[in-house]
Amino acid sequence: MKPLLITIDGPAGAGKTTVSRALADRLGYAYMDTGALYRGVAREMHVRQVDPEDEKGLAWVLGDLDLRFVRRDGDLRLLSAGVDITGEIRNPEITMLASAASARPEVRCALLALQRRLGAEKSAVFEGRDMGTVVFPDADVKFFLSADLHVRARRRYLELAGGQEVSIEQVEKDMQKRDANDAGRSIAPLKPADDAFHIDSTSKSAGAVVDEMMVVIRDVAGR
Ligand code: DC
Repeated sequence: MKPLLITIDGPAGAGKTTVSRALADRLGYAYMDTGALYRGVAREMHVRQVDPEDEKGLAWVLGDLDLRFVRRDGDLRLLSAGVDITGEIRNPEITMLASAASARPEVRCALLALQRRLGAEKSAVFEGRDMGTVVFPDADVKFFLSADLHVRARRRYLELAGGQEVSIEQVEKDMQKRDANDAGRSIAPLKPADDAFHIDSTSKSAGAVVDEMMVVIRDVAGR
């Protein structure tokens, strides 16, 4: 099969991460979690006490930005200036800051170039919000994965439940707010590309979603 660039966009909790990883494994492709890059920027903002409205502060953070993915023991790790920050980017504070930061044009612009460099070789599955619409409008196969808000909140709650004290109601509220931020921002809002294949994962297992995607990918690859 010729090398393909595959994009998976959709709201938080739709199952993008699980599905993207499994799909990349099945294809022997690299997996790229672009949300982690926005979270990486948010982590640097947090460390330097820069808020999303602070233009000078953002320029300072972005001027020094040095984010890199590495694979360790089959896991995707995010390094910032060589330091592994993977364990720091999923807490609720960084999550909300990443959402606010992702509405800033200068942040999106800085990450656009980085993401396109990462995609230059193809043979990759990119997960995010604007992969098929803005970053890779010429991607070979585009998916848009969605699910009901309740189901998404429950999935995220179960993921978080190990380490953090949050209620499912709070997770759902935060998710709704983030959905509104992501879909309502003027620059690169969350929306399906015109040529994306839509999959609703509300009542489907990750395996079933990946199977469905593989059918589409084989069809495209065979053309
Ligand atoms: O997928 P995630 O929850 O890790 O993403 C973190 C934040 O980054 C989320 O609020 C949306 C934003 N994001 C984005 O704007 N564009 C992307 N391609 C990926 C994520």
